[in-house]
Amino acid sequence: MTTEFPKNFFWGAASSATQSEGREPHDGKGENIWDYSSKEFNFRFYDGVTTEHTSYFYQDYKEDIQRMKEIGFNSFRTSISWSRLFPDGVGELNQKGVDFYNQMIDELLAQGIEPFINLYHFDMPIKLQEIGGFENREVIQAYADYARTCFELFGDRVNYWFTFNEPMIPAEAGYLHDRHYPYVVDFKRAAAVLHHIVLAHCEAVKIYREMKLSGKIGIIMDVIPVYPRSQHPADLEAAEMADLFYTKSINDAILKGKYPDKLKSVLLEYDQLPEVTTTDTALIASTKIDLLGINYYRPRRVKAKECLPNPQGVFSPEWFFDNYEMPGRRMNTSRGIEIYPKGIYDIAKKIQNEYGNIDWFVSENGIGIQEEEQFMENGIVQDDYRIDFLKEHLTYLNLAMKEGANCLGYHMWTFVDCWSWGNAYKNRYGFYRLDTETGEKTCKKSGHWFKKLTENHGFE
Ligand code: BG6
Repeated sequence: MTTEFPKNFFWGAASSATQSEGREPHDGKGENIWDYSSKEFNFRFYDGVTTEHTSYFYQDYKEDIQRMKEIGFNSFRTSISWSRLFPDGVGELNQKGVDFYNQMIDELLAQGIEPFINLYHFDMPIKLQEIGGFENREVIQAYADYARTCFELFGDRVNYWFTFNEPMIPAEAGYLHDRHYPYVVDFKRAAAVLHHIVLAHCEAVKIYREMKLSGKIGIIMDVIPVYPRSQHPADLEAAEMADLFYTKSINDAILKGKYPDKLKSVLLEYDQLPEVTTTDTALIASTKIDLLGINYYRPRRVKAKECLPNPQGVFSPEWFFDNYEMPGRRMNTSRGIEIYPKGIYDIAKKIQNEYGNIDWFVSENGIGIQEEEQFMENGIVQDDYRIDFLKEHLTYLNLAMKEGANCLGYHMWTFVDCWSWGNAYKNRYGFYRLDTETGEKTCKKSGHWFKKLTENHGFE
């Protein structure tokens, strides 16, 4: 093997409840912001597909887990849907939801697949959104109660817990960039949401520790490595600001126990600081995680600003940098993002050098392709581009590991083509193809390749 991984490396994929479970009549699930917005703001979703018709994991979980086994998974991440467990976000439990997650976890374990369970993947129960979602401090308590219930119900069997997937996104996409419901555009409110998510994370970790469960708890971050256009001081400053707002803000809070001083002074200067009490600061400082997940899709290239920001415009991190389109960059044109495999190595080095070389794993990485059926031959999607993508990223990851990175596993996004926030079923990411008309799931060429990879613990 030229690229060899440890025998106990975690191999698998990630998914999330809202993106894969779908709905069944009388399943007892309450609505979350996606059930609501994909109906009420249907025009914002590709082809108008709603959450009702996601990849049928609620019905097919047994067969799906068998499919995972067939392509060599030893681990799988999904999330619990808060509104499936608590239809109103708080109060009465939905027993059908409890049964479903119990059966799903038991089935994974029976098939030798380690469940990695995440508590929040962008899916605020609508009842709690009606009182402000994470903008409202009361919701932190509701989340803590939900987390405690999950640990009580499933903590005897689940050894790997994650509090949030990409904590920056609900704040940034929901309160600044108009991509997720409630489609607010207001930096200070976004900052409050992010801060409250950090506190909710800390509360869940605290509860987990108090319960003295034997597993590990962590969080999943989307770390976008930032590259300046040049070494000119103005470009370097732009890169520093992009990193400060979008990565260091959350990374430092979670991994170093405090927000960066420079960020605080910039927000103070522009009157954008959310309320942070001394109790909050102490809680953040005392919270430590065991395991970090890193989602990596693309780099962020930036340059110094060409024009001053609109003086009437909404305060935003983009006041300090412009995005830079590097000539010759390699693009995934379906998704409109750059492919840069070395980014995974750069992240690994950052974790190693700046964040104490904590145990981590690649919790998402993948390539979403539109109209993938064009690559179908004899009923199988010949996704050689996905195999190449995997090989290139794994080669860089392997190099970082040889240099001491504590990476424990690699999860692809995703197991079977799934619904996504806004893009619905436009871009396909799965090892299995989903026929959205018939619900049929067929293994792609990359799934077969992945099986060999896991059997050989590497590839030539
Ligand atoms: C990740 C999210 O950021 O990106 C997933 O955790 C999401 O939920 C994935 O589906 C791919 O994004 P998209 O929008 O291309 O489907």
